[in-house]
Amino acid sequence: MYDIGIDLGTSAVKLLLISDEGKLVNTASQSYPLSFPNPGWSEQNPADWWDAICEGILKLLSVVNPREVRGIGVAGQMHGLVALDENGDVLRPAILWNDGRAASQTEYLNKEIGKDFLLDHTGNIAFAGFTAPKILWMKENEPELFGRIAKIMLPKDYVNYKLTGRCATDYSDAAGTLLLDVEHKCWDEDMLKICGLKKEQMPVLRESYETIGNILPYVSGKLGISEAVTVVAGAGDNAAAAVGTGCLREGQCNLSLGTSGTVFLPSDEFRMDRVNATHAFNHAAGNYHLMGCMLSAASCLKWWVEDVCRSSDYDGIISEINPESLGRNHVFFLPYLMGERAPHNDPGARGTFIGMTMDTSRADMTLAVLEGVAFGLRDMVESVRNLGITVDHATLCGGGAQSDIWKKILANIVKVRLDILKEEQGPGLGAAMLSACGRGVYGSLDEAADKLVKVSGHVDMDKKLADLYDERYKMFRSLYPALKEFFGAKPNENINYS
Ligand code: XUL
Repeated sequence: MYDIGIDLGTSAVKLLLISDEGKLVNTASQSYPLSFPNPGWSEQNPADWWDAICEGILKLLSVVNPREVRGIGVAGQMHGLVALDENGDVLRPAILWNDGRAASQTEYLNKEIGKDFLLDHTGNIAFAGFTAPKILWMKENEPELFGRIAKIMLPKDYVNYKLTGRCATDYSDAAGTLLLDVEHKCWDEDMLKICGLKKEQMPVLRESYETIGNILPYVSGKLGISEAVTVVAGAGDNAAAAVGTGCLREGQCNLSLGTSGTVFLPSDEFRMDRVNATHAFNHAAGNYHLMGCMLSAASCLKWWVEDVCRSSDYDGIISEINPESLGRNHVFFLPYLMGERAPHNDPGARGTFIGMTMDTSRADMTLAVLEGVAFGLRDMVESVRNLGITVDHATLCGGGAQSDIWKKILANIVKVRLDILKEEQGPGLGAAMLSACGRGVYGSLDEAADKLVKVSGHVDMDKKLADLYDERYKMFRSLYPALKEFFGAKPNENINYS
């Protein structure tokens, strides 16, 4: 029997199929458009997700008997606002996690409502990408549509709704709305009131591995799978990636180099970061986690290679880098192409190259992009280290995990040993594992991880290179404060730049 794992990403949906014996049987992927209707805005049409998923499932199941599928788990891009009317129709395109339009609503929440109130009620402060500021934006800017909202959902919950007809979410994803009392695992009534919402408009809350229902008869007919197929609540993509990389318990860390870049640390007890921009969320394993998120990570390389260098030859462009120049690059790149979440919380921050001379080559600039993303990840790891947490090893997932030179740069800038996984499938594998656990194939996620997640090697840091990068990191850290006035937005005043 099989489980389907679905990773609803920002540029594409990735699907995979695992067997009850723990084998990865097949993978498939389908892309969909992403639109930027105004600078800093980012939207997608939920109907495109659903079409891509149906096509993807048909492709995925072409190698097996579809009637042997028993479960589906969905992981999704977090924080996106999907608003449905009373007929279950989508009211407007989804406003995504990397959309910066809600800057003034974010400021209202952090300043007028106050960070202390937000932290006490939700464990987090407001960021423009979180769902609550976007709800306030819709209330102010689209009052007619806002008045017609019957249900609020997150992206993967919309997929689960299409599959089962049920309106549910899981704690890991709900945590990113700023409407959840993360510690006590319930919707926060005061936050709902501040956003003009009622509890009936919110999905029911479930653990990620809990079954929310069976697939609808018309879905069974469309996809050729049995009506007995169950769907679990699933998880936000970062929590699912952590499951898929076996990062379940305190002391572990997962780094993700996808469209966004994240640092993910499970914690057994609820804890939060009152002074920095680290998120305190629920984990799909039932415990909690701390997470830093930068808005543009592997997407910076995509922008550089595809949009600027006008190429699709990633390997060719990266191979121009002279390995001897690692740690000695005179060019810096600030990876804030969509503004920045952690640590600056500044939707107005912008991507920047700095330090070029007449002898600067394209290779130096490519290296600066890889390094700039790694410096951004180091910023977030330092926030966590400042809480007294040791981060000396990590698993790695996401598109950036494919590049050997990027892995070397990362290990030495972030100062960790990277544990490289044999089969790196991140959120999709995590989602399939949640489904298999929901069906009782495994007694726990730990048991599933023991069976499915294997480390195949390590990238160790090299003391000399790490020291060189320490010096460069000091310079990198001085750049945002020097440029923040120019970017024209207020920085996170809690960060000590000295
Ligand atoms: C996490 C976040 C991103 C998206 C990307 O807080 O915003 O990682 O989930 O898919």
